[in-house]
Order: sequence, then structure tokens, then C-alpha cells
Amino acid sequence: MQDLKIINLPKILDRRGNLSFIESENHIPFKIERCHWIYDVPGGEKRGGHAYRENQEFIVALSGSFDVIVNDGTEEKIYHLNRSYYGLYVPAMNWRQMENFSTNSLALVLSSKKYNAEDYIRDFTYYKTLKQ
Ligand code: TYD
Repeated sequence: MQDLKIINLPKILDRRGNLSFIESENHIPFKIERCHWIYDVPGGEKRGGHAYRENQEFIVALSGSFDVIVNDGTEEKIYHLNRSYYGLYVPAMNWRQMENFSTNSLALVLSSKKYNAEDYIRDFTYYKTLKQ
């Protein structure tokens, strides 16, 4: 799983409350073109279950926790995200699914590309053939 990694973010501790931040092409290795977030996930639901041909992502649990399951076509790894001061960098061409959302969890997803349905690969069998 080359390049896929947890990235720790700056954490400014303050008795008034802590602060973290992300700068495009600094803390994460791409220019942020889009930001979306996932919230109000009913218990037991799963999101994702696809790969992107070109889009790169950085996923942060801003609140609560969830698992990101990443499969590179050979190997599968589960990342449990539960703090807002780190996130998971997912390069293009990785199959990823999000599940096990806690109540009131909030997932922030930063993307390197604008939304493009053509960039999605939604068939895992087909995805595996592309990775061979
Ligand atoms: P999708 O990425 O398929 O969600 P998930 O993988 O989490 O299940 O997106 C769900 C719907 O939202 C789909 O119809 C496309 C739309 N969408 C946008 O219009 N813009 C976006 O930036 C995203 C992420 C999704």
C-alpha cells in the first residue's frame, strides 16, 4: 500500500480549546479542489465501496469515530479514525469503504478533484482486473 498513510496534523493546545488545521499541498500531498462531509449516518450503514481513477482523498474523523477499509487489490487494511488531529491519505486507485460509524460521527473528506462520476470505479471485480 504505497503512499497510503495516516498523517498527523498540527495541534495547537490551548486551555480555551484545541485547534488543528490543514494546508493544501503542505500537510497533505495535493491541492484541495473539493470538500465534503458525511454525517447523520444510521447505525450499521456503510458508505463508499468504490475507488477513484484519479482523485486523491484525505479523510478525518472531525467528531466520533468510524473505520476506513482500504483494499489495494492485493491487501486489505482497516484504519480506525477517532481523533480530529490526524487523518488518512488515500491515493487514487485504492478501493475504500467507510463503516462502523459511531453516533453523531462527522467524517470530513478533502479531495484533489472536483466531483466527477466518470472517475468512480464501483465494481470491485473490475477494479481488481485494473490492478493486475
Ligand atoms: P458517493 O461518493 O457515491 O457516496 P459514498 O461513496 O459515500 O456512498 O456520493 C453519493 C451521491 O452524492 C452521488 O449521487 C454523487 C453525489 N456527490 C456529489 O454530487 N458531489 C460530491 O462531491 C460527492 C462526494 C458526492
